[in-house]
Amino acid sequence: MVKSKTERGEKLLAWYDRHRRELPWRPAPGQKPDPYAVWLSEVMLQQTTTKAVAAYFQKFMAQWPSLSELAEAPVEAVMQAWAGLGYYSRARNLHACARKLVAEHGGRFPEREEDLRRLPGIGQYTAAAIAAIAFERPSIVVDGNVKRVVARLGALETPLPAAKKDIPALLASFAPNARPGDFAQALMDLGATICTPRRPACVLCPLSGDCAGRRTGAPEDFPRKAAKKARPLRRGAVFYLRRADGAALTRTRPPSGLLGGMVEFFGSAWREDEAGDWIAHAPCGEIPWRFAGEIDHIFTHFALKLSVFVAEAPLDAATPDGGRWRNPTDMKCAALPSVMRKAERAAQDFLALSGFTDARNSP
Ligand code: ADE
Repeated sequence: MVKSKTERGEKLLAWYDRHRRELPWRPAPGQKPDPYAVWLSEVMLQQTTTKAVAAYFQKFMAQWPSLSELAEAPVEAVMQAWAGLGYYSRARNLHACARKLVAEHGGRFPEREEDLRRLPGIGQYTAAAIAAIAFERPSIVVDGNVKRVVARLGALETPLPAAKKDIPALLASFAPNARPGDFAQALMDLGATICTPRRPACVLCPLSGDCAGRRTGAPEDFPRKAAKKARPLRRGAVFYLRRADGAALTRTRPPSGLLGGMVEFFGSAWREDEAGDWIAHAPCGEIPWRFAGEIDHIFTHFALKLSVFVAEAPLDAATPDGGRWRNPTDMKCAALPSVMRKAERAAQDFLALSGFTDARNSP
């Protein structure tokens, strides 16, 4: 039997009051949320797990405790602090958003979803989340966890993503009038801890008496899934050139597009067709490159296999156009995406094993 709107919403809020997760961006119960912290966490949480985000959130809050401090930071510092979290356009947009808020909005966030959406890096989900959590606006907040919970409650037969359009209406049908921020986060927590993808713990669920998915006997079969497209495989080469003083040759990717503005080693384009002669893409002319192995990395829309080549260069080696030598200390904090960290590790392991000389340690 479908319970009244109030009853479902209230049950969920009562459950949240007892079982909410303690997360670094959540104020203690009864405390007012800081819109800056809500925005920062929600941008970080776009396509990223709470576990991965926690340490980054704390680092950002320690380094830039307020919107104005973040706006004043150089964009390179923000990119660097973001390195490893993925989807790097988020960092660039985060910084652009901070500057815009300071320059055009007196350093304050607008409260309405439609105004939030006009800011860089704030799409439909993030605008709704900020409006509900930071400003108690009655927005309908639908993230991946929420989609699953609602698809199960309603035993929706339409697979995702097509079912996406039915979810907000179903959710609105039982959203309580009070505490929209807690309601949104309660659904997220329910999805993360009880209504999990594989083995939902229905016996612990505050909504189980009212869940059409559970009544089917196989709630884990919701949401229905459309057949998945295979992820294409791209290949490429990356060239790790270590100078006699230990510095590595790097460059910065163009500001927009995949890994925009991040630091990388020189390399070929990444393509689906076999590219054959990788060495033709190497920087710095005639150098005895050695093959150090392959690394694999998964991006959302493709898988990548990179051949890693290594070589050593003398202290007076020329710097190719757009290149920059970075010493080991610089390298540690450079804005290198995870795929390039993997390449760096493979190159360094190879150099260590193959007995390449390191001028810093030679007599
Ligand atoms: N995922 C996205 N936003 C979240 C939040 N505020 N709490 C927990 N998980 C989330």
